[in-house]
Amino acid sequence: MQTMECIRERRSVRDYKPDPIPEEIVKEIIEAATHAPSSGNVQDWEFIIIRNLETKTKIAAAAWEQDFIARAPVVLVVCSDLDRISAAYGTRGETLYSIQNTSAAIQNLLLAAWEKEVGSCWVGAFNESTLRDILVLPTNIRPLAIITLGYPAEVSKKPKRRDIKEVLHMERWG
Ligand SMILES: Cc1cc2nc3c(=O)[nH]c(=O)nc-3n(C[C@H](O)[C@H](O)[C@H](O)COP(=O)(O)O)c2cc1C
Repeated sequence: MQTMECIRERRSVRDYKPDPIPEEIVKEIIEAATHAPSSGNVQDWEFIIIRNLETKTKIAAAAWEQDFIARAPVVLVVCSDLDRISAAYGTRGETLYSIQNTSAAIQNLLLAAWEKEVGSCWVGAFNESTLRDILVLPTNIRPLAIITLGYPAEVSKKPKRRDIKEVLHMERWG
């Protein structure tokens, strides 16, 4: 699949077939994430793979009852190691680059998954402290996103995008 086609066609998938995703496919998808750019190449990202139904059910509850999370064959939690990023970039690293670096990794991950016909959804709405407790995270590891993975049972229509004319500014804002 060509890059632009993958970018244009990818969409969030919340309805999955129960078929398991082979471990090597999950690892290839995560490997794609690790090729993302990061501030000073610090690569503060960490990935937790969850397949256990009990843990996925707890995570779905921590994500304000977004039950589709428990039905995804694989759930990834993408974290930033705040010690690693702040050692390089202090407060700006901890509060901004950690989010930018992991977001770049996540976008790679979503596109790599789509290319492999694996559906995914980026979930940002969750109770961070509950998720920390479920995954027994040390204080320096901040969970920034939950990503569901599964072969699509159904793919919904692509939500409309703002037209480029609406978002583009030439040279300056006003
Ligand atoms: C930071 C972020 C947080 C999101 N959080 C959620 C979420 O909690 N639950 C959900 O179902 N989708 C979530 N999404 C997915 C968006 O709803 C989705 O990307 C958007 O509607 C566009 O649809 P598309 O991904 O199919 O193009 C999130 C996406 C991003 C980037």
